[in-house]
Amino acid sequence: MAKMWAGRTDGNTDKLADDFNSSIHFDCKLYKQDIRGSMAHAAMLGAQGIVTQAEADQLIEGLEGILRDLEAGTLDFDMGCEDIHMFVEQELTTRLGDVGKKLHTARSRNDQVALDLRMYLRDKSDDIVQMVKELCAALTDQAEQHKATILPGYTHLQRAQPITFGHHLMAYAMMLLRDLERLADGRRRINRSPIGCCALAGTTYNTDRRAEAAALGFDDICLNSLDGVSDRDFCVELLSTLSILMMHLSRLAEEFILWSSWEFKFIELSDAYTTGSSIMPQKKNSDMAELVRGKTGRVYGDLLALLTTLKGLPLAYNKDMQEDKESVFDAVETAEMCLQVFTGMVRTMTVREDRMLQAAQKGFINATDLADYLVKKGLPFRSAYKISGQIVARCLADNLVLETMPLAVYKEFSDLFAEDVFEAIDLHACVDRRTSEGGTSVQSVEKQIAYVKGLL
Ligand code: ARG
Repeated sequence: MAKMWAGRTDGNTDKLADDFNSSIHFDCKLYKQDIRGSMAHAAMLGAQGIVTQAEADQLIEGLEGILRDLEAGTLDFDMGCEDIHMFVEQELTTRLGDVGKKLHTARSRNDQVALDLRMYLRDKSDDIVQMVKELCAALTDQAEQHKATILPGYTHLQRAQPITFGHHLMAYAMMLLRDLERLADGRRRINRSPIGCCALAGTTYNTDRRAEAAALGFDDICLNSLDGVSDRDFCVELLSTLSILMMHLSRLAEEFILWSSWEFKFIELSDAYTTGSSIMPQKKNSDMAELVRGKTGRVYGDLLALLTTLKGLPLAYNKDMQEDKESVFDAVETAEMCLQVFTGMVRTMTVREDRMLQAAQKGFINATDLADYLVKKGLPFRSAYKISGQIVARCLADNLVLETMPLAVYKEFSDLFAEDVFEAIDLHACVDRRTSEGGTSVQSVEKQIAYVKGLL
């Protein structure tokens, strides 16, 4: 079939070139945005007298019909069309005849596709905000349950100091709050309307860009038409935000995988979020967490692909930009899936408090508190630190831990030691004393929980 743009050429492109060129198999996802955008465009054309009011009404009604039929499943996309914009216009013209051909007055597919994508991402960004909030709430609820559950805190993956599981989970809640800030910030720049920039230079028609933008819920318009049709910063920003979000999920996924291992056994993921092995009957694998970790690479890839596509593009629109959509769709859909799976995984996991405590009891994680004990008795910290280190070495040599070493031996290292040393190194006391703001004490974690709950 001859192309809608036939004229300058005969429009009879090679079949392979057609397939290569067409984007309808992925941009059909934008049909709703495309039709809503076109309805607002028709209304603006009518209001400005560029088409008659009767024609505008006909266009809007025709577009409504197409939307209705697509949603009802009584109309299929014509995969022979180049893209979703061509499809809608072709269908409209089939239904209305010559009036349909007036819709594309004072616009171009260049501003149209940018409009559709912004409308799509505006909604997706809102959906993702909701999903991040749900995950954040799941983490906060678990943190509340476990605000006094002790486990070793690690640095270098070496047992470092006692913390609570609630404190650990709230660290991830804080990361998600920053993701929410980034999403909100990026949305401000998504929500500017490019429609009316036309192909690149604006238009000779007496359009009202601001009215059309307002009708579509935009806060503002893109102020330079060349920029309006070629700007994809809003996509890059969203993909960058999603990459950071996925990095956060991936770090927690990694912890879940470690914690689910026999070596740790700090948590057990619910059967609903694990799989078995086809050969090893004993296996319970953390596939969902592993996939979140794996898919993080994929979202980074989407970001990199988009940045690389845009690099070196001269103004204004270039067909390269058609490549933006698959990266954007993939990253958005991947992040959405990961967030939802993760929320379920967090809500249904079993926390093994006994295992966490056991691990906390054997790693000298109260050695800092031992040093602090001496400091409180008047020793400079560096000297107290040294003595505590020597005591740990002695414990290791004697196969003891700080709690089981007799007071008499402590006294060999310093006569500042007294019976109260054992209270000072009690794990619960160690946690309870860390009352500094943001610290691991129950009351500090409660404050963090209240803060996050207030924001959600
Ligand atoms: N399918 C195209 C895209 O996704 C729509 C814009 C086409 N514009 C053009 N001048 N060929 O970018």
